[in-house]
Amino acid sequence: MKIVKTIEEVRAQVKAWRAQGLTVGLVPTMGYLHEGHASLIDASHRDNDRTVVSDFVNPMQFGPTEDLESYPRDIEHDARLVEAHGGDLIFHPEPEEMYHEGFSSFVDMTVLTQELCGLSRPVHFRGVCTVVSKLFHIVKPDRAYFGKKDAQQLAVIRHMVDDLNMDIEIIGCPIIREEDGLAKSSRNTYLSAQERQAALVLSRAIFRGMELVRAGETDCAAILKEMRSLIEAEPLARIDYVKIVDCATMQQIGTLDRPALCAMAVYIGKTRLIDNFFTEDV
Ligand code: PAJ
Repeated sequence: MKIVKTIEEVRAQVKAWRAQGLTVGLVPTMGYLHEGHASLIDASHRDNDRTVVSDFVNPMQFGPTEDLESYPRDIEHDARLVEAHGGDLIFHPEPEEMYHEGFSSFVDMTVLTQELCGLSRPVHFRGVCTVVSKLFHIVKPDRAYFGKKDAQQLAVIRHMVDDLNMDIEIIGCPIIREEDGLAKSSRNTYLSAQERQAALVLSRAIFRGMELVRAGETDCAAILKEMRSLIEAEPLARIDYVKIVDCATMQQIGTLDRPALCAMAVYIGKTRLIDNFFTEDV
C-alpha cells in the first residue's frame, strides 16, 4: 500500500496497472476513516483488481461558517485502515495540488442540489461535484463507491455521471452503524458524552420510520409526525429537516406511491448529523 500526494504519481500508478490489464475501483473520502469507509473499500476490493482511496478534506464543499478547520485528520490511522481492507493506493493531496492558482471551473448541478442538505449548505454540492469529477479524471476508475449514508450525494453523483457521460459505474453501499444504532461518521468525534447519547434520537427516529413503512403506512405526514416528535423530545436536538422525497427528484411527496428517501439532518449541540433510509431497502 502506497500513499502519494501528487496527481502525476496517481496517474503513473494507474497507467502501470492498466498496462497489466487490471481493473481499478475508487473510494473518495475526506479521511478520518471508520468502518463506514472500510465497507466501501471492502466492496471495491471485492469487485476490482486494485483500489484507490482518496483522502482529501475538500475545502470547496465547506461553507464559510462550517467546520473545515476543525474537521478531524489522521493519515497514519487512515493508512493502517486502508491497508487492512485491501486498498492499494491512497491519494492524499494538499489543497494546492487539487486547486492550482487561477482554478476557475466548476461542476454545478441545477437539479437535486437545491433540496434537503442543499438548503442549509448552498455551496456544498458544487464542491462535491467538482472534486469528485476531478478525482474521476485523475484516477479514471472502472467503478466508484459511495455510501447511502450521504443519500443525496449519491443521487447527485449518479445524476452527474449520467449527464456528463462519465464511463464509471457508481456503486451505492449500505449505511454502517455503531452497535447502538448511530450512523458512523467522522463528525461523531465532535460529540461530548452527553451529546453522543442524545444523538441516538436520529437512528431511533429512522428505525421508527422504517417500522411504520414496513407496517404499510403510506401517509408521509403521519410517518414524519412520529419521527419528528421522537427527535423533539430530546432537548439537545434541533431539527434542520426531516423529509420524505421522491428518490429521482429529491422533491417532497405526500404518499409513498414510488421509490422514496426519508432523510434528516439534526443538530446535536453544534454538530450537524444526517441519517436516512430508502423505502426500497425497508
Ligand atoms: P466522507 O464524509 O469522508 O465520506 C466518504 C464516503 O464514505 C461517502 O460516500 C460516504 O457516504 C461514505 N460513508 C460515510 N459514513 C458512512 C457510513 N456510516 N456507512 C456507509 N458509508 C459511509 O462524502 C464525502 O466524504 C465527500 O463528500 C467526498 C465524496 C469524498 C467528496 O469530497
